[in-house]
Amino acid sequence: MDTTPVYLDCDTGIDDALALAYLLASPRAELLGVGTVSGNSDAAQCARNTLDLLALAGRSDIPVAIGNHDFQAAPYGGGSPHVHGDNGMGGVRLPRSPREPEAETAAEMLIRLAHEQRGKLHVIAVAPLTNLAEALRREPRLPELVAHVTIMGGAALAPGNITAAAEANIFHDPEAAAEVLAAPWPVTLVPLDVTMAEVMEEDRRRRLADSGRPVPEALGRMLEHYFEFYREIFGRPCSAMHDPLAAAIAIGDVAVTDAPSVRVAVETGNGPARGATVCDLRGRYRGNGDQSGAHCRVVLEAEAGFPDFLVESLMRAF
Ligand code: RIB
Ligand code: CA
Repeated sequence: MDTTPVYLDCDTGIDDALALAYLLASPRAELLGVGTVSGNSDAAQCARNTLDLLALAGRSDIPVAIGNHDFQAAPYGGGSPHVHGDNGMGGVRLPRSPREPEAETAAEMLIRLAHEQRGKLHVIAVAPLTNLAEALRREPRLPELVAHVTIMGGAALAPGNITAAAEANIFHDPEAAAEVLAAPWPVTLVPLDVTMAEVMEEDRRRRLADSGRPVPEALGRMLEHYFEFYREIFGRPCSAMHDPLAAAIAIGDVAVTDAPSVRVAVETGNGPARGATVCDLRGRYRGNGDQSGAHCRVVLEAEAGFPDFLVESLMRAF
């Protein structure tokens, strides 16, 4: 099986941790580097979480770089401890890896890998797009060097999750998101429309938490915190599949069943729609065809069954 070389940009984060473990577990992905950015926690804490999880998974060979602490138009605001816990990992303390982050920044790592993998690198961004925007500014040829960018972010027809209109990753740095979505590279946007459509249920979480194996057990314990946050939203303990679903779509493990290529603009004004992703879906009454010249595929529907597939992949791999 051909593997996909991947750079992951994340704000680890409980569902980021799931995405990371999933990429390690998938025989289709070759994870070459991880960059962190502030979002769920600050960028340095996210790097620490990533290093510790990689060590637990026996993959301390994968380099981790710290990216931007602040957003383009605003300083980092303290993250989401109510969603991801005080340390971003639902309060779960993993053994500390002796390894430290790389000397290069996340944007430098992305640019380096894009050159090394010329035309082959897949970028998976499951966090605010601050590092990607910086990399684009530093290396204007980046769109020619990268094969594909998959972004967990936005809300096409679904409501937002941090405001009525905006999804968290886009809302934290809308200026960066606007730059990244305007750049001439092929993008797959995995918005709340699909990441909220199918959730992981409590029996699946328990399968991880009670496995007696370090990686699934740690993820299952982190998810307990995440499930409590989603209890308010869904009326039962469960969790959305934001970041791992984006990772699975990026490497072709989950097929998309409705994903038109359309123009996507990001609202950067300071009104109530700040951070909204305005997807031009006027063609949906004719079957959601592609718009000519558009380079952003917006995933509106994906193959069912991902939460079970995710849990079974993790149980097989670890
Ligand atoms: O809106 C969901 C996104 O925000 C996910 O990437 C999650 O990790 C949080 O950062
Ligand atoms: Ca994330």
